[in-house]
Amino acid sequence: MIEKVNFRYTDDITVINAKQFEAHIRLYQGYVNNINKIDQILNNDPKREDANSTFSFFRECKRGETFALDGVILHELYFENIGGQMNAPIPAATQELERCFGGFNNWQEDFIATAKVSRGWAVLCFDQRSYRLRNISLDAHDHGNIAYSAPILVLDMYEHAYFLQYADNKAEYINRFMENINWEVVASRIWCQAHFT
Ligand SMILES: [Fe+2]
Repeated sequence: MIEKVNFRYTDDITVINAKQFEAHIRLYQGYVNNINKIDQILNNDPKREDANSTFSFFRECKRGETFALDGVILHELYFENIGGQMNAPIPAATQELERCFGGFNNWQEDFIATAKVSRGWAVLCFDQRSYRLRNISLDAHDHGNIAYSAPILVLDMYEHAYFLQYADNKAEYINRFMENINWEVVASRIWCQAHFT
């Protein structure tokens, strides 16, 4: 059973207003509900005897499993990495960005472009295979991930993440996000990768 994390809107969150935040939290709750529903089916009667790659109930369960669970995980990472008291890049994070992208500005330019092309998520991740950070573009929660990588900074680019507040001004949402990154959280995620891989 996966428990929903109780994220609260606080004054340090400037990228989205309270109304946009609450609407988003309701969607997050839906992903939690769905992964629990799917897990229950998988643990009981997933009709494995009819498993088929063209169409079958079991196939739909497996599609829903990664979509819903990645939806939960990515939303939690997103809500955790906005706001906070440290919205300016800090050396513990920028050193690694400089190593992997040849400079902080290069990374930022690439991350913003990645966000603009993404239909689902823009993610700065640590790719353990090549031992470096990469900006990756996801068109859905479970479409575009590198198999062996860890998310470091997560930006929700689904329209539901910004449309209520920004309408079609996607660029402004991205700019406000870049100013509201919780760099303490980013640095701690980088630290974990450096010490546990
Ligand atoms: Fe979302």
